Amino acid sequence: MGRSLLPLLLLSSQLGFLQALQCFQCQRINASGVCETGESVCQAKGNQQCFLRKVYKDDTLSYGYQGCSSVCSPMTIFYMDVALEDKCCNDSPFCNKF
Ligand SMILES: *[C@@H]1O[C@H](CO)[C@@H](O)[C@H](O)[C@H]1NC(C)=O
Repeated sequence: MGRSLLPLLLLSSQLGFLQALQCFQCQRINASGVCETGESVCQAKGNQQCFLRKVYKDDTLSYGYQGCSSVCSPMTIFYMDVALEDKCCNDSPFCNKF
């Protein structure tokens, strides 16, 4: 590691609380918005953001997924009678509320 990087690294770890972005994490949220499996909190690192995916079937909310993700593009994908709606945010902690 370059000598000049060290102070920067220390500084950024001290300022870490300013950048710390916490997100809801849940492997499966049911249609009522209740997390059924894998409920926790994740810490977005590097270029990660809070991520929320909603899955619709026949225009009805079927289930969802929350977490931290570095590969996230806000979009909606339609596939036959299923729609996936992805959202990403990093403007406030827990912004990926279902
Ligand atoms: C979601 O889960 C909660 C708690 O298990 C349950 O009460 C509710 O009926 C579920 N909703 C659906 C749509 O399955």
